[in-house]
Amino acid sequence: MISAERIPNNVGLSSNKRLQRALEHWQPKYIQWWRDMGPQGFQDYHQVYVRTAVSVDPSGWAHFEYVKLPEYRWGIFLADPVHDRRIGFGDFMGQSVWQEVPGEFRNQLRRLVVTQGDTEPASVEQQRWLGQRCPSLYDLRNLFQVNVEEGRHLWAMVYLLHSYFGRDGRDEAEELLERQSGNRDKPRILDAFNEPIENWLDFFMFTMFTDRDGKSQLLSLSESSLDPLSRTTRFMLTEEAHHMFVGETGIARILERTCQLMKQAGFSEDVRKMGGIDLPTIQKFINLWFSLSLDLHGNEVSTNAASYFANGLKGRAYEERWDDHSVSEAMYELELLKDGRLQRGHIPMRTAMNEVLRDWYVGDCQNGVTRWNRILERHGISDRLRLPDRKFNRGIGMFSAMHFDPFGQPLSDAEWERRKDEWLPNPRDREYLLSIQAEPVYEPGKFANYIAPPQRGIKGAPVNFEYVRTEL
Ligand SMILES: [Fe+2]
Ligand SMILES: [Fe+2]
Repeated sequence: MISAERIPNNVGLSSNKRLQRALEHWQPKYIQWWRDMGPQGFQDYHQVYVRTAVSVDPSGWAHFEYVKLPEYRWGIFLADPVHDRRIGFGDFMGQSVWQEVPGEFRNQLRRLVVTQGDTEPASVEQQRWLGQRCPSLYDLRNLFQVNVEEGRHLWAMVYLLHSYFGRDGRDEAEELLERQSGNRDKPRILDAFNEPIENWLDFFMFTMFTDRDGKSQLLSLSESSLDPLSRTTRFMLTEEAHHMFVGETGIARILERTCQLMKQAGFSEDVRKMGGIDLPTIQKFINLWFSLSLDLHGNEVSTNAASYFANGLKGRAYEERWDDHSVSEAMYELELLKDGRLQRGHIPMRTAMNEVLRDWYVGDCQNGVTRWNRILERHGISDRLRLPDRKFNRGIGMFSAMHFDPFGQPLSDAEWERRKDEWLPNPRDREYLLSIQAEPVYEPGKFANYIAPPQRGIKGAPVNFEYVRTEL
């Protein structure tokens, strides 16, 4: 039995017996999933200094404490309601937002919630071996912080499924624990969430680029006419910010260390001989995770996206910043691939909503890359990192029909095969990374040779704080 108090919440769980019973039924399966598919080797004997969401009060929504991971208090929080909130875009603009799911949009909304929900446990599964190769206790703690919050995001989506989608919703909640990342028979829904994350460069790139796709989707869902969905996702964004911080600063610290090693090596760039991660390898991982995350935004031309917008299910990021919220006439200009040829063209803006969201995403990623390049600049190194062209290495959308180099130039299949190892991580790169990450660093204040320490610790604690401690 669980009691409502064990699940921190602001949804009045103790007075909603039906929901409480449904979650009581689901919770033991969740915990079993966490033990089986969550961080391997860190379930019973380790205490982790994590933050736990305990309210939605912006001045103090979380507290920090040591917990054993399976005892983390996964809670359910909705951002505070906005008084008299109105639908902000599409065909129902100006009407009151929905507190229940309208029958005609039930399937579409369920699909959106399930797709979002599926990514949350998937990333925990992908990352479950990383603790064995961590570069420091600080990083280990950050990994687990991200993991428990992805778990909480699953709770958030399961709350919506149980509360608003009846029987179907309960079935979907079960299936969220049954699919598994990379599983041949029951894979996770989206491709990027079936890729293994076997080393820490993957992890930092994932939290930089793929968690940022999470931000894209959450921004868009937080505009939704379904008010509980909007409020749930708005609060999830608070936690998501930390995940991207982990990714961006993780790469920044690797760059910092790489620059130090390059200087020591006399700018010969053979950083690998000194146990560091060379810039070309970092660039390849940017190419990989950026392109995978672009795919997550869907097809450039999409009637689904148009209907999500028309029906008010999904808006644009920061919808209020746009002038035209109906978008019934507007056209959108983009690069199109027609009969194997690239050309500029126009499509109705509503069918381009995936691309509009992707534009926001690319801009947000670019800001991060610009900040990384300042580190290189500060060290007097002339190399620069860059985002590949958005046509590069695509598996979804019209550009997946052809190959392109990172500058957007079309390539023949043969040329692609010959050159792809220059642009994407190859087995030798991965072997090298595993070789320098073979030994985990569990000593407080110590860092692996390939990464610099952070500028500060967590929540006022020093960098050499024992962020993960072993229970004797
Ligand atoms: Fe998440
Ligand atoms: Fe996340």
